[in-house]
Amino acid sequence: MSTGIKHGALFATSVEVVCTVNGRPVRLLLDPRESLLDVVRERLALTGTKKGCDQGQCGACTVHLDGRRVLACLTPAVHAQDADVLTIEGLAEPDGTPHPVQQAFIDHDALQCGYCTPGQIMSAVACIAEGHAGNDDQIREYLSGNLCRCGAYPGILAAVQQAARAAAEG
Ligand code: FES
Ligand code: FES
Repeated sequence: MSTGIKHGALFATSVEVVCTVNGRPVRLLLDPRESLLDVVRERLALTGTKKGCDQGQCGACTVHLDGRRVLACLTPAVHAQDADVLTIEGLAEPDGTPHPVQQAFIDHDALQCGYCTPGQIMSAVACIAEGHAGNDDQIREYLSGNLCRCGAYPGILAAVQQAARAAAEG
């Protein structure tokens, strides 16, 4: 932990955070008030993660922290200490092959403007991994924190069904 002067006479405390982001080691010196969302977008230039409401209402900012989905706008970036952060940019295979959930969204045309899509996909990946994609009602419930103002819900549901079936079949 180090201290420094910020904004004239105001003192701010900087915190060193070491973590991995999409498999790459990252070392950051952060203001403890910074959200994980602002850090991935503004410091790491990973702008696939979207800022919708910035207050935990829309799900557009969903990322994974140690394999669990979190709302990055409500997560202090310092919580990433020693953790693995996964954003939409890290989901595909290194050779560019889309993740099965990404492919399912393409197959079912499960988007219109696309603004909510990274969050939808990160939530869907977690939803399937959690075992919460067993039927339509379950998928709707466990993706209910991800809003789509375009109303692409039928396509999203079909995409998650396809990806869940594929995951179940191994
Ligand atoms: Fe985080 Fe809306 S931007 S929930
Ligand atoms: Fe436009 Fe969902 S595709 S907000």
